Amino acid sequence: MVRYSDELIDEIRSRNDIVDVISQYVVLKRSGRNFFGLCPFHKEKSPSFCVSADKQIFHCFGCGVGGNVIHFVSKVENLNFKETIEMLADRSGIELPVVNSEGDDKMAMLKSKIYEINQITAEFYHNNLYNSAIAKPAQDYVKKRKLDNNTLKNFLIGYSGTSNELYKLLVEKGYKEEEILASGLVNKMDNGKFVDRYRRRLMFPIQDTRNRIIAFGGRVLDDSKPKYINSPENIVYSKGRHLFGLNVAKKGDLKKIIIVEGYMDAISLHQRGITNVVASLGTALTEAQGRLLRKSSEQVIIGYDADGAGQAATLRGLEILNNLGCDIRILQIEGAKDPDEFVIKYGPERFQKQVDKAISLVEFKIKMLKNNLNLDHPNDKIKFLKEIANILAKIDSEIEREVYIRNISLEYGISKEAIYAEIIKLNSQNVKSTKILEKSKPRLEPKKEQVVNEQTDKRERLIIYLLINYPEKSYEKIKNNVKIEELSSERNQNIIKKLYEEIEKGNINNNNIIDWFEDEETVNYLSWILAYDFEIGEVDKCIEDVVVTYQKEKLIKKRNDIVRKLEIQDISAEERENLENELNNTIIALAKIK
Ligand code: UTP
Ligand code: MN
Repeated sequence: MVRYSDELIDEIRSRNDIVDVISQYVVLKRSGRNFFGLCPFHKEKSPSFCVSADKQIFHCFGCGVGGNVIHFVSKVENLNFKETIEMLADRSGIELPVVNSEGDDKMAMLKSKIYEINQITAEFYHNNLYNSAIAKPAQDYVKKRKLDNNTLKNFLIGYSGTSNELYKLLVEKGYKEEEILASGLVNKMDNGKFVDRYRRRLMFPIQDTRNRIIAFGGRVLDDSKPKYINSPENIVYSKGRHLFGLNVAKKGDLKKIIIVEGYMDAISLHQRGITNVVASLGTALTEAQGRLLRKSSEQVIIGYDADGAGQAATLRGLEILNNLGCDIRILQIEGAKDPDEFVIKYGPERFQKQVDKAISLVEFKIKMLKNNLNLDHPNDKIKFLKEIANILAKIDSEIEREVYIRNISLEYGISKEAIYAEIIKLNSQNVKSTKILEKSKPRLEPKKEQVVNEQTDKRERLIIYLLINYPEKSYEKIKNNVKIEELSSERNQNIIKKLYEEIEKGNINNNNIIDWFEDEETVNYLSWILAYDFEIGEVDKCIEDVVVTYQKEKLIKKRNDIVRKLEIQDISAEERENLENELNNTIIALAKIK
């Protein structure tokens, strides 16, 4: 871990005003003391993303994320802490000292060795492929898959040999055992022998956006299993954070970006001039990959295989990309099992046409619906109509809805009037429920967690708010009444305990409270508290009220407990008398408060 001094981090933060920084990503409008805009971390139509200039924090009341300027940049740019600090320092013209500890140096050294090893390995495998003595089967296979020489060169495609040549080569070049093993390209067996991870496979190097080789995928030349072996995750490679081909795709026009499943799909399309393509790396699309896609392009087109697995992967990918607020289209591959086969069979022009015709989320949902129903059957047809009305009713734009209705009517032989009628029916039901929702201002309410009483939870949040913002006025009063162990959740206990400690030490400027906690959930939670408008009015009165209510609730709880105990039949007369006394005292105490 890199450690910058707290002073330096404070300096960086104070030179990067959160409103300025976020304004580069989100259109913000002032509303009272805060700014609001559309959240960049989830899709929304009305702004629930709040930025506070006084407190230098943000919070989205819709999806719950929040934090300070460092958290924001780290999330939106997909950077780790160190990279975020570097970016913010750079943005504000601060020179960063070199503070690498010995551990960092060692790690950095090992990383650079692994990059070197990967590069040497890729070139070694690539050269192998041109050696007929070793690679005849691979050469035949490459021909069969119609990969041309340019493509082999551009992607540095290669062939891993028959035994342990790579290990020998790396030792010859002077790499240490530790370095070779850290690359994941060679394994050490129980008997102490070293074996190459990849043998007799067509090799695809995987590069990051800085063109460094970080891993490999190796395909068998026949139908044996497993079809691919991939590099294990290591200090330079975590598969959920990269996209195959992004480094190449970035060189060209990326107004739209197509995401496909296979290395072969991406490579085959590139070869035929379609260069805005990347592949996810043998996993279901991850959120980090989703963010990379959104950052790289305005529109993401999912081009997964036409089979069932591909459909399922499409659904999962849609969910992730939709939550990130991407403009998504879904490619329809008909007459071929995957993009590779399609472009070979029908050519790049026709593929491009499919890309232009890629369907929207709504159309995709309707299509999926239809696939699961038999529209010749009246029952299914009614069900279909109801479901599409459901989907269409959620579309805000009238024009967009018009278009869908026209298309659906034509494609599925359902009259436009029938669809309209169904939507109107739904809307009249929805109006009632929307009104109720509006009254309770749902988007600003705390997210429901556990089964804690909401009133209690809200009050405890207010207590935290008061301790942070008015420690001098509130501390004594709150501390005398609110006992840590009586708080409703562990999270509130931790936070309030920490606040008590800090205030006790004389630390009364606690706006940077977010920095004391490292876990994301607490950061999100605290940013909610800082951004929320508790409508405090007069501070002293608010503190007074909160404390009184707290005492009152405690007494009520006590009273209820006693009553419950008294209801039990078999208690001794003495015990009963004690309980009744206690009950009396509690009721008197309660009456005094009221
Ligand atoms: P595919 O089976 O569609 O691979 O798997 P492909 O690249 O299109 O290969 P061809 O066309 O059959 O030659 C999609 C991706 O899933 C990962 C790889 O990243 C592959 O490119 N995968 C697949 C694995 O990691 N391991 C496997 O055994 C299979
Ligand atoms: Mn394939």
